[in-house]
Amino acid sequence: MNSRNARFTNPFRPGAGHMPPYLAGRTSEYEEVRRILDQTIILENVILTGLRGVGKTVLLETLKPLAREKGWLWAGTDLSESTSVTEERLATRILVDIALVTSSLVVSESKQLELGYARPERVIRQPLNYDILQAYYDKIPGLTSDKLKSTLEFVWSLLPQTAISGIVFAYDEAQNLSDHAKKEEYPLSLLLDVFQSIQRKNIPFMLVLTGLPTLFPKLVESRTYSERMFHVMFLSQLDEHDSREAIARPVERAECPIQFADRTVRRIIEISGGYPYFIQFICREVYDVWLAKIDSGEIPSVPEREIVQKLDGDFFAGRWAKATDRQRELLKVISLIPNCDDEFTVQEIVNGAKESLEKPFSSSHTNQMLSSLGEAGLIYRNRHGKYSFAVPLLSRFIRRQINEASGLSY
Ligand SMILES: Nc1ncnc2c1ncn2[C@@H]1O[C@H](COP(=O)(O)OP(=O)(O)OP(=O)(O)O)[C@@H](O)[C@H]1O
Ligand SMILES: [Mg+2]
Repeated sequence: MNSRNARFTNPFRPGAGHMPPYLAGRTSEYEEVRRILDQTIILENVILTGLRGVGKTVLLETLKPLAREKGWLWAGTDLSESTSVTEERLATRILVDIALVTSSLVVSESKQLELGYARPERVIRQPLNYDILQAYYDKIPGLTSDKLKSTLEFVWSLLPQTAISGIVFAYDEAQNLSDHAKKEEYPLSLLLDVFQSIQRKNIPFMLVLTGLPTLFPKLVESRTYSERMFHVMFLSQLDEHDSREAIARPVERAECPIQFADRTVRRIIEISGGYPYFIQFICREVYDVWLAKIDSGEIPSVPEREIVQKLDGDFFAGRWAKATDRQRELLKVISLIPNCDDEFTVQEIVNGAKESLEKPFSSSHTNQMLSSLGEAGLIYRNRHGKYSFAVPLLSRFIRRQINEASGLSY
């Protein structure tokens, strides 16, 4: 490798939440959020949803500076399973998130006279930190929701209302929120009730939730008013034009030793299906291989077979390994349904199984298995009662498994 290449680092970033070298497309979503951030009374909250690796987290990241520019404070984090298990934990999470953005603001000044003297006065400046929020919260009697509502009202009463637009509460991986009737813990309902209530009091605290496609149906199931409370944006794969940009733009800079030829770009779009994670993954691999070969004078080709195998190992194999034999049979049947990349029904699966399996599936068995595959994060049920794969390009991976088993290679 010559010194120019040695200095050059591969620009592509396959990963979770890693900002891509060039964020392609997503302009309509961005503009939509810009419009929603102009609200003074919150009538619309935001949901960004879509399959794994489609770019929810990085889009959320790019909304942060937009919101700040428009005068919003930005609070929030990932909602991991553990945070979202009980109402109390969720409430603590929210208080911690608020404190992180308000503890640098001086929210009250009180004047005290020195003991025994008429003067001088001492001015006490009080930052709105976690201890104050927690102390206030603890003092309020009643249910967690009453305590949280009251604390949020308290926060707003202390903020410089004319100087800021409000607070955005941005929660990634929000599909982890669930109510647990058996444990009598309802953190999801708590979040919805509390925000609905404070928004009705014209307090500009807005929710921006990000998560897998199970998120919105879950919210609606918990509180039907969620349907009216949220503006849902479904992120899909990038279209042809935006995929091209995601692939070509990062290497257009002058110092890049190799540019992609048009046919290579076309092939990468095909293999990736326009899914952002796959674009980053494939481009990174192609670029690494090419950089390694550049000095040998070889004409670079795309090592497709190897890349797809690596993708199968890195991305799909772990998920596939978790499925039982019978679940895999069902998944194989689904992968052969012509419209499986869009959505499919129980009936289509039952019909497909009758044709291809010696031991077919009944409707009720199919229903049961779809629900366990849903819990495993492989399938989800959409709001119209139909099903879809929850992992992008899973059907192609499964068909590769079928071909391998029957001796046909990729
Ligand atoms: N618009 C885009 N253009 C180019 N690359 C993108 C784009 N959006 C996302 N990516 C890349 O795709 C990968 C996945 O992005 P991200 O982690 O944001 O997806 P996600 O939807 O949050 O995934 P998950 O469901 O697993 O949380 C990252 O490597 C990121 O750099
Ligand atoms: Mg994410």
